[in-house]
Amino acid sequence: MINAIMIGAGNRGIGAYGSYVIEHKDDLMFTGVADPDLERRNYFQTQHNIANDRVFLSAEELFKHPKLADAVFICTQDRQHIAHVLKAMDLGYHVFLEKPMAVDPKDILKIEEKAKATKTILVVAHVLRYSPFFNTIKQVLNEGHLGQIMVINHEENVGYYHQAHSYVRGNWRNSSIASPMILAKSCHDMDILSYLLDDTPKRLSSFGMRSHFRRETMDGVPGHCLDGCPHQETCLYYAPKVYLNAGDWMKFPVSNDLSDDAILKALAKGPYGRCVYRSDNDVVDHQVVSIEFNQGTTVNFSMSAFSDKITRHIHIMGTLGELWGDMNDDHLTIKPFGKPAFKVSIPEGKGGHGGGDHGAVKRFVKACSHEIDVTHDLDIAVQGHLLAFAAEASRVSGKTVDYQQYVEDLK
Ligand SMILES: NC(=O)c1ccc[n+]([C@@H]2O[C@H](COP(=O)([O-])OP(=O)(O)OC[C@H]3O[C@@H](n4cnc5c(N)ncnc54)[C@H](O)[C@@H]3O)[C@@H](O)[C@H]2O)c1
Repeated sequence: MINAIMIGAGNRGIGAYGSYVIEHKDDLMFTGVADPDLERRNYFQTQHNIANDRVFLSAEELFKHPKLADAVFICTQDRQHIAHVLKAMDLGYHVFLEKPMAVDPKDILKIEEKAKATKTILVVAHVLRYSPFFNTIKQVLNEGHLGQIMVINHEENVGYYHQAHSYVRGNWRNSSIASPMILAKSCHDMDILSYLLDDTPKRLSSFGMRSHFRRETMDGVPGHCLDGCPHQETCLYYAPKVYLNAGDWMKFPVSNDLSDDAILKALAKGPYGRCVYRSDNDVVDHQVVSIEFNQGTTVNFSMSAFSDKITRHIHIMGTLGELWGDMNDDHLTIKPFGKPAFKVSIPEGKGGHGGGDHGAVKRFVKACSHEIDVTHDLDIAVQGHLLAFAAEASRVSGKTVDYQQYVEDLK
């Protein structure tokens, strides 16, 4: 049994990881919480029956004390991670760290060094890597069904309403207050590709832009939907229609109180009620990355806001066969050359991200219990993050990036 303190009892802290404990009471126990938001802090305290002297107004308040638990879960916002993770490791906590690890590539290397120096266990919440879907693909590759992997075409379908919610109106809309889209969203994909291939990138190029969610797309509209928008009947993004019909994961960032009245009040003047063509967003709504890996595999990755469903598609081509997968399906399709195609079932995963949220926590708990070694998990996470930063450098500069040189230049 591991005991841990939740730092940042927000959407992820409560929804993705607090919920793990409810189903795995013998593995993990939250014995503390730190969050400046009174309602969230109280909610988490009550849900996990936390003693009053283990409730803190912030991570900074918690860190004034010596180590109070085996581990911390760092679920604060992107730009806060670096200070929180370095301090936690200095105090001797094992750390479950939300992605992105940090928003500056040099800080990724600092975190890696600190984990080594303090010998703390650090698992990054690359939840997809711990999902049954990607674990099954990895197993198929390990069993050699496809031979040597030559090409991967990997697609991230963000979903038009998800893009508008998180990357136009929400916390990750602007790279100066969060991080570029390739880091905020697609660092998962850079991680997955690194995990599946277990190889280092040689060079890469990226293109992408913000084409639709911009002022020029729509004339004559108010800043907030509720200020008499003339397109309220037809607009896909009319906020009252979107949020009154949304799931809790979309309502919760709008208002802690999920009632219709509270949501409408928050939309009137708040960020989630903004017109999607009048926000202060600057992150891309579509981006591609082409990567050549050292063992010769070429990869095409494409992220798009413009999809109906939130899912990922992957097509892997090897010397002996092909594999197709859609993360929303319950199976993979494999076609060995010269033999009939067959399907491989994906085990059902509980919790968000197709079982990945709980899968990642399970792996962290096992590592803290010394059942498994997760050193290589961190190597992959570091590579995935640096790959995302390198892709952004290519997108912005318009140049092909030599990955090894890019990493050397950070040192
Ligand atoms: N792994 C994934 O797939 C995934 C998915 C979504 C978000 N995320 C990441 O998870 C992190 C949290 O996202 P979220 O949606 O839960 O955000 P959120 O805003 O809902 O939660 C963050 C919480 O941190 C609290 N906080 C702010 N300052 C603090 C401080 N100094 N000390 C302690 N707590 C503090 C806030 O009050 C809030 O409750 C982000 O970095 C985000 O990018 C990861």
